[in-house]
Amino acid sequence: MIQLFHLFKKYGPHVALDDVNLRIAKGEFIFVTGPSGAGKTTLLRLIFGAEKPDRGYILINSINLTRISRSKMDLLRRKIGFVFQDFKLLPKRTVFENVAIALEVTGEPSRWIRKRTRQTLELVGLEDKEKVYPLSLSGGEQQRVAIARAIVKGPVILLADEPTGNLDPDLTREIMALFRTIHQNGTTVVIATHSRDLLEDVPFRTILLQRGRLCGDTCA
Ligand SMILES: Nc1ncnc2c1ncn2[C@@H]1O[C@H](COP(=O)(O)OP(=O)(O)O)[C@@H](O)[C@H]1O
Ligand SMILES: [Mg+2]
Repeated sequence: MIQLFHLFKKYGPHVALDDVNLRIAKGEFIFVTGPSGAGKTTLLRLIFGAEKPDRGYILINSINLTRISRSKMDLLRRKIGFVFQDFKLLPKRTVFENVAIALEVTGEPSRWIRKRTRQTLELVGLEDKEKVYPLSLSGGEQQRVAIARAIVKGPVILLADEPTGNLDPDLTREIMALFRTIHQNGTTVVIATHSRDLLEDVPFRTILLQRGRLCGDTCA
């Protein structure tokens, strides 16, 4: 489903990715780990098509991301959800609107959008918060809104960047349980984290990045 071939990415003198090769199968749940600055965020942004590699290429369902047109990229991106490290919620929009906004680009009828948004808020356990504004929510609740927005379109791939970075251990467990549910519903899930706590006893594939190089893979 996701194939990375000899990816290189530099920001000025900083090497962010250094010859990364990786295959992620459909339906996998995978952690991208490594210390701060290792290249985790860069890797997710490249898979999302938010940036292009300096060298190498990326296939998503056999489509070469480094070659496709802008409009095809927009279509493909509808199938990929991204949970940003800083949530990126709109403070002047309600919880409902923050999630529904992701569906407005699809051109579906508003009745369908309402229904789908409600279903998704229910899945993340926020059905009673739809009229509330994000800033009045706790960190864990804001994270759920960000996850709802990322999955409302029913993406085949969900990318999450340090999704439990600011949460306490109980909330971390809850959010991880939510990712497992999403995974069980058939989505390929890729989570970037520098947190070792998150990884204790996880039964999932874990890859390790260090200074932009892939230097560990529990599946390799
Ligand atoms: N927009 C940017 N401009 C300059 N340097 C960047 C930028 N994004 C990332 N980097 C550098 O690339 C390297 C990898 O960063 P990043 O992918 O954010 O790592 P991680 O998410 O593992 O902490 C770091 O050295 C970082 O400073
Ligand atoms: Mg990062």
